[in-house]
Amino acid sequence: MRVRFSLRMLCAVALVAVASAPAISADTTAAKEKAEMCTACHGEGGISQTENIPSLAAQPDQFIQWQLVFFRGGARKNEQMQPIAEQVTNEDIRLFGAYFAALTPPKPSTDDNPDLSKKGAEAAAGRRCASCHTDTYAGTKAVARLAGQREEYLVKALHDYKSGVRSGGAGSAMTDVAYPLSDEEITALAHYLAHL
Ligand code: HEC
Ligand code: HEC
Repeated sequence: MRVRFSLRMLCAVALVAVASAPAISADTTAAKEKAEMCTACHGEGGISQTENIPSLAAQPDQFIQWQLVFFRGGARKNEQMQPIAEQVTNEDIRLFGAYFAALTPPKPSTDDNPDLSKKGAEAAAGRRCASCHTDTYAGTKAVARLAGQREEYLVKALHDYKSGVRSGGAGSAMTDVAYPLSDEEITALAHYLAHL
């Protein structure tokens, strides 16, 4: 009894927000209703139609949860997200993580500039982006999905890391990764990744 009790306490205290087990998949109706306030900006089915607002569909569960925790605590700053994140509970965060992770990923549009994609693919290989983001760029755990993300948002995100506006989770390494990237490389990387 005593062991069980303290384990529970540990779990409750340590894992405030980020659940590793996909315990919540059951109540999708409730999730869908709650997510309506998100899809107002992030788009129907979690696929954004709006400039500088990222798609959330098929982002890894943990990545979504961590970003909400960062917005809520103020470690990641954004005028639009902050007031929303301040209102979400830990339970909501788990719900949103599971909900958006399960949605169908965005379909990339036809590549209108294959030469730029080729440059982007070379830059990604040279910088070893796939070593963390996975070979398909679908992301994993706290590492974001990049495949099919909005192009101008990827450019913005890379500039935000490069300038230090966004630092990412402890040890995320994105600040170090983005710092040496030239504007030209960022443009090419974003174009390549958005069309995967
Ligand atoms: C008023 C518009 C708006 C609403 C409503 C909104 N968001 Fe956002 N969200 C944004 C913007 C803009 C960003 C990009 C912030 C940036 O550029 O750093 C963002 C970023 C995010 C991110 C980080 C994604 C990434 O790829 O880095 C997550 C996760 C997120 N929102 C979840 C939610 C959830 C869950 C809800 C509903 C509870 C929600 N958002 C509601 C505008 C909104
Ligand atoms: C050492 C592991 C690692 C490497 C290498 C890496 N990334 Fe990341 N990346 C991460 C993690 C972890 C995150 C989430 C960070 C956070 O919490 O903001 C991330 C986030 C991002 C984001 C933000 C996505 C979003 O939706 O907000 C972009 C864009 C990105 N990476 C692009 C790249 C590119 C391009 C490269 C190669 C030049 C690269 N990454 C290399 C680990 C890595």
